[in-house]
Amino acid sequence: MIITESYLKMIINFGILINSMIVCLCQAVTEKKVRAAIDSGASTRREVTRACRAGAGCGGCHSTIRDLIRDQQMQSACDSCVQGPAAEDFLGVAAC
Ligand code: FES
Repeated sequence: MIITESYLKMIINFGILINSMIVCLCQAVTEKKVRAAIDSGASTRREVTRACRAGAGCGGCHSTIRDLIRDQQMQSACDSCVQGPAAEDFLGVAAC
């Protein structure tokens, strides 16, 4: 099978590469790697970029990286949640 450029673009556009969604096309960084950077302490887009290079190109993925940071922080709050108020105060939204 010959892998053409258009076939490769199709795969990337569907976000499939080694069982993980591509977050940053410029640097070919997966969601899994971005989440690992966040788990390791990166809490801003710049810190994520420093940790895994996601976002170090055109900038088209910056909002997705910020969404992943927010999602991960919300998940962490929920994981340690004691039913509501603490998570709600921290995030400014009703997390539970
Ligand atoms: S898609 Fe991430 S920097 Fe371009």
